[in-house]
Amino acid sequence: MKLHPVDVKTLTPEIFQVFGTQNALLTAGDKTACNTMTIGWCQLGRIWNLPVCTVYVRPERYTYQFMESHDYFTVAILPAGERKTMQVCGTKSGRDVDKIKECGLTLCYGAGDAPFFDEAEWVLVCKKAYVQDMDPACVVDQVHIAPYYGEKGGWHRIYTGEVVEAYTR
Ligand SMILES: Cc1cc2nc3c(=O)[nH]c(=O)nc-3n(C[C@H](O)[C@H](O)[C@H](O)COP(=O)(O)O)c2cc1C
Repeated sequence: MKLHPVDVKTLTPEIFQVFGTQNALLTAGDKTACNTMTIGWCQLGRIWNLPVCTVYVRPERYTYQFMESHDYFTVAILPAGERKTMQVCGTKSGRDVDKIKECGLTLCYGAGDAPFFDEAEWVLVCKKAYVQDMDPACVVDQVHIAPYYGEKGGWHRIYTGEVVEAYTR
């Protein structure tokens, strides 16, 4: 494996930059089956004195099933040049194609057999700590949500995971 484990406190990602440009691969499952998809929405921070990563998944995603059935998930940032992979994993569904094979990604496994990819620049392995559906009634300013819901799809489920492992090059 090209990646090696690091203390999460030493990671200094440009998160506002990364999650608007490179985006990330969200992966869940185990050694028997898994799925990955591109995500653009992510938060990194701290709650309950834990380092955490929060992701948002619509129920219609195939990845959602793996997020529900497994305790761990991973968030992997690929190098900026991996645009084709991000496009394939963000437009095709694992129900129809083996995206990992199509993109030539190399599977590795972390805590809880959580799958991630050796091609990543850095990876967070997360253990689910809090799960909640987004509630339309809680939206304060409708202007932010107008482009994302209605015909575009269902309301996201929010998954906050404790970052239990971090890997980098
Ligand atoms: C740049 C980009 C960012 C995305 N971010 C998210 C996201 O944060 N949450 C989500 O549910 N879907 C997101 N998607 C859509 C999924 O990646 C896409 O629907 C994917 O095909 C789902 O694959 P699956 O059915 O195999 O899970 C994003 C797509 C792109 C291209």
